[in-house]
Amino acid sequence: MDPVDTTRLQRLARAFTESAVLYAAIDLELFTHVSAGAGSIPDIAAATGMSELNAERLITVALAMGLLRKNDADRIVNAPDCEKYLVKGGPRYAGPWMTFTRPEVPRWFELTEKLLDPTPPTELGMYDDLTVERARSYHAATYSIGMGAGRRFCRQVDLTGRRRMMDLGGGSGAYSINAVQRFEGLEAVVFDLPPVTVVTQEYLAENEVTDRVTTLGGDFINDPLPSGCDVAVMASNLPIYNAENIQKVVTKAFEALEPGGEMHLIGETLDSDGIGPLDAALWGLAEIHYGSGGRAHSDAECIGYFETAGFVDVANHEFVPNTLTRTFGRKPA
Ligand SMILES: C[S@@+](CC[C@H](N)C(=O)[O-])C[C@H]1O[C@@H](n2cnc3c(N)ncnc32)[C@H](O)[C@@H]1O
Repeated sequence: MDPVDTTRLQRLARAFTESAVLYAAIDLELFTHVSAGAGSIPDIAAATGMSELNAERLITVALAMGLLRKNDADRIVNAPDCEKYLVKGGPRYAGPWMTFTRPEVPRWFELTEKLLDPTPPTELGMYDDLTVERARSYHAATYSIGMGAGRRFCRQVDLTGRRRMMDLGGGSGAYSINAVQRFEGLEAVVFDLPPVTVVTQEYLAENEVTDRVTTLGGDFINDPLPSGCDVAVMASNLPIYNAENIQKVVTKAFEALEPGGEMHLIGETLDSDGIGPLDAALWGLAEIHYGSGGRAHSDAECIGYFETAGFVDVANHEFVPNTLTRTFGRKPA
């Protein structure tokens, strides 16, 4: 019997329906209601305002997707990740991040036309003409996921004894906030586009770190980087730029760092053979919607950017398995 069949292709052809289910569940605050005790179809219908028929349809899919589960008493409960990250009002609520790319939905369904569009890319892509208002809503999303990443960074990287960190494209300041809270004596400067730094300052104030974290507005490709730093971090910017511009920033960071300083580049990377993970590949392709020249970069390319800049002890470390890589390099003393 031929083992090749159409199952995989059929699933891919309707994969968008799963995203739609997740968005609807977030809109309806499904996980919040379930967490509060709505554990049956009638309970959930009453709590969300759906008919029982529609509640049953949605719950059936959510159970099949593993977003919901049944407990020993046959009550509907949240899967652990939904309980932790999708219950509104919870300390780790990440709803804004999960819907961050939702405005892209119509554009993904114009992908064919976009792939054939001959318009040349711009340098800043989605950040061209950024306003404070757009930066505020953008960073409500990045903050809801970035604080967890910042905590993870501080668990993985020991910055004891370091004095000043430049957080390139630091956005909400999530990495800097966590780093100064964790490492005594460390200060940080969040370097980001001027409209963003207005928003950064709001997060710095909310986290009571304005005495140790400052901001500097600028474009890390074309403007001078902060001086006097012995740590540089650049997180979640990789697919936005092409190889030439990533090389430019890494080289500029190398030159700006104090001797003996260290750099960490955190981003979605392809494996060295360029084949997957899919997430990294898709972040690269998503740049088509913003008109940038960005693309997915591989682990091996990141090593190359650091070595070309002059860093030593260059290595890739798994930051979030199958999702994010942390490339490390040290500037010789
Ligand atoms: C996806 S966010 C990541 C924010 C933060 N590093 C984090 O991980 O939470 C990317 C950030 O890089 C900034 N950025 C992108 N291009 C930049 C440039 N050329 N110069 C300065 N900042 C830039 C954006 O404004 C945005 O705040």
